Parts: sequence; structure tokens; C-alpha cells
Amino acid sequence: MSDQACLYEGKAKRIYETDDPNVYRVVYKDEATAFNGEKKDVLDGKGRLNNEISSLVFSKLHEAGIANHFIERLTETEQLVKKVRIIPLEVVVRNVAAGSLVKRLGLKRGERFPEPIIEFYYKDDELGDPLINTDHIAYLKLAADEELSRVRKDAIRVNNVLTSLFKEAGITLVDFKLEFGRDENGSVLLADEVSPDTCRLWDEKTGDSLDKDLFRFQLGDLNKGYETILTRLGGVQQ
Ligand code: C5P
Repeated sequence: MSDQACLYEGKAKRIYETDDPNVYRVVYKDEATAFNGEKKDVLDGKGRLNNEISSLVFSKLHEAGIANHFIERLTETEQLVKKVRIIPLEVVVRNVAAGSLVKRLGLKRGERFPEPIIEFYYKDDELGDPLINTDHIAYLKLAADEELSRVRKDAIRVNNVLTSLFKEAGITLVDFKLEFGRDENGSVLLADEVSPDTCRLWDEKTGDSLDKDLFRFQLGDLNKGYETILTRLGGVQQ
């Protein structure tokens, strides 16, 4: 399978064609990047941890009836997914104040919101992925109104499922980023990855970060945090 064409290489993943035109193979890499690629490192084992966690999370979302691109985990670092065309939006859901929102609005880190806050960012490297609103999305024709309402609904459903999943593991789901795509029929599906690279996850008791903030702000060993998450979620699912 490895001699098939690499269609895309991102910061954390490579995407390959397969014999099936509607299926891609995703390979999770060991590279860690932050601040738009300004900070970089290779952390042995990170690709495996993210693949295992993302596969487990997508399976749980399937079980909860949330349409997503995940088909199966192939190996420690690879998974098969349905081919989609990614909608160029990063959908961020926030339960607790942290990260860029704390800076932007001058909030106290750790403040819990009564209702989740949803934000949209325009996926455009040259523009630096700016925060945009639904009027901008309509003007730029990034998604139709019905698609956007599906994205919002699914983002909230994902938040509900994942908040409970992590809570059972003694972990607070602070915030996370989702991406959606359109399949060959034009249906909107949750895609990309859901991993500690794309979520803020805090130990419920100690408040310690178990996610990519470990790497971003040199708070500790990234792989140790990711391993804690995988173990507490019940480990690798075959
Ligand atoms: O940096 P910020 O606070 O806006 O990030 C919110 C959430 O979205 C965090 O969980 C972060 O890991 C995730 N995110 C991401 N990819 C980006 C931007 C943010 O996964 N390009």
C-alpha cells in the first residue's frame, strides 16, 4: 500500500490514495508543530498515540450516531477514512476559557462557560487562519446555510459525547477544533482528526495539561500526557 501516491502532506499527517477511489489512507506522523510551524520537533511515538486516540474517539462518535469519515484503524500509525473534500473552516468549540480566547477577550483562564462557545476560523495559511463569522462564511461561499447549521449541530453533539467520554476518564474537555468535509454525495461529514493535538484536555483533579499545550508551552513530556489519555480511555481498540 505504501507505494500509492501521497496526495497531501500536512504538519501531522500524510494522506494517500488507495485502490478504492472513495477511500484514503491516513498516516499519522511523529512531528509536533506549534505557532503556525514556528516551533517544531520530532517526538517518537506521537503518531501512534494520535492515531490510536483519534481512532477510538471517531469510533465512539460513530456509536453515538455522528457521521464521520473514519472507517478503520489499519496499523499503529495508519487509518482508513472516507474521501471527503474538506470545507475550509476550523470549527472551535469551547467549554472553558483558555488559549487564544483568554488573550482576545481578557478572560480568566479556567472560567467555565454556561453554554459552549462556537467559533469559526477560515483555513487559509497565507491569511493565518483568521476568526470569521457566519456573514463572512456566506459571503466567501465557504458553506451553504444548511451545511453550516449541520456543522453547528454536529459540533454540539460531538461536544456532548466527548465531554462525557473524557469526564468518565477524569479529564476535562476544555476546547477542541473540528473540520468537516463533503463526501461524493455532497453530505457533510466530520473529518480530519480528534486528538490531543486538536483538543485541550486537563486532568480533572490536578488541572495539569495532557494535550499539545505540553509542547507549545514546554509544560512537560507530550508523549506522557497523550499516553495518560489513551490509557484512561481504555487503550487501543482492536
Ligand atoms: O489556540 P486556540 O485557543 O484558539 O485553540 C482552541 C482549540 O483549537 C485548542 O484545543 C487547539 O488545540 C485547537 N486548534 C487546532 N488547530 C488550530 C487551532 C486551534 O487544533 N489550527
